[in-house]
Amino acid sequence: MSLDLAAFRSHFPGLGAYVHANNCSRGALSLDVEAALTEYLRSWQAGGSPWGEWMAVWEEARAALAHLIGAQPEQLALTDSASHALAMAMRARSAADGPVVIEEHNFPSAYYLADALRRDGYQVRFTADYPGETPLERTCAALPGAATLVLAQVSFQTGELLEVACYAESARAQGCQVVLDGYQALGIVPTDVTALGVDYYLSGTHKYLLGTEGFAFLYAASGGLPHAPGWMAADDPMGMDLVRRDLSSTARRFETGTPNVVGAYACRAALELLNQLPAQERLAQVHACAAVVRRACDHAGLTVVTPAEPARHAAMIALGAHDAGKTAAAMLESGLLVSARGPVVRVSFHAYNTLDEAERIAGWVAAHSHHFQQESL
Ligand SMILES: Cc1ncc(COP(=O)(O)O)c(C=O)c1O
Repeated sequence: MSLDLAAFRSHFPGLGAYVHANNCSRGALSLDVEAALTEYLRSWQAGGSPWGEWMAVWEEARAALAHLIGAQPEQLALTDSASHALAMAMRARSAADGPVVIEEHNFPSAYYLADALRRDGYQVRFTADYPGETPLERTCAALPGAATLVLAQVSFQTGELLEVACYAESARAQGCQVVLDGYQALGIVPTDVTALGVDYYLSGTHKYLLGTEGFAFLYAASGGLPHAPGWMAADDPMGMDLVRRDLSSTARRFETGTPNVVGAYACRAALELLNQLPAQERLAQVHACAAVVRRACDHAGLTVVTPAEPARHAAMIALGAHDAGKTAAAMLESGLLVSARGPVVRVSFHAYNTLDEAERIAGWVAAHSHHFQQESL
């Protein structure tokens, strides 16, 4: 079955009360996910601990996520956060294999993990420290001899969408593997990990994928060893073999402890809903909404830090603000849910947002332009 935009929106009854333009931080609750969570509670109430049923849902969620990114289920490890998946990928090679390169659009977790890598004897390079006019040039300058390049597909702060294939090609030419954080893209940007040419890909489910917190995943094309495996990484977790300790030959070897069953129920339902609206339509709708806000900013001469070309952004448009936290709070008082990160206010759409909602945000920005930074001439 496929849905049009209005039918898709009708699955989110809470949206009438406010404008949900905070999808880069948290997606809205659908009827489908609400029903899935109830189903989980009922199964728990009725069965006590129906692990057979729950593990089947866990595997269905894995398969649905794999399908979404063009991978095989056995290439996915289900994790409890994107940061944890990132840590696994960044440490899948040893310190002796060569430096880890951190591209400058990464989420803060990459930087904290980089500090931990250094403490453990890894060499780390930040591309911002390297010469070059563009981020790609600086990355290329940092690559020689490196083992791993860590990249975010869309910046959590500026909303810039990187041309991943160019970075991946440059890294491969140097024998360097690529770890891609797709969290700010997946659910909006059609994604095929093979076409992207990455070795590891990670994302989570509570933003554009419309699931719950604490449910994320790591795609591992092949190989790589987990630095912190738990019992669920075992070839046969229920064997509890303390002597052989064989790790799974699939990406499950990156898993740790008891599965987040609730997250799996939510993820399965959320992806079923999401898949009913083609990815290209989701992308077109968020682009149309972002364009409405951008026009208002351009008209008022305000600073938009997100690139204007549709090929260079996804669902988010980020505006320079004098006090982003205060501005986001004032917008919320007007029924507009957005988010502040450092110096910017992030307005991020999903396919359930309407052009009227984008106009409401544009109108607020125009009427309160003193909150925002003027474009320097
Ligand atoms: C691009 C990106 N990567 C990673 C994360 C962190 O995700 P988690 O909290 O699941 O570790 C976020 C969260 O905002 C993000 O935007």
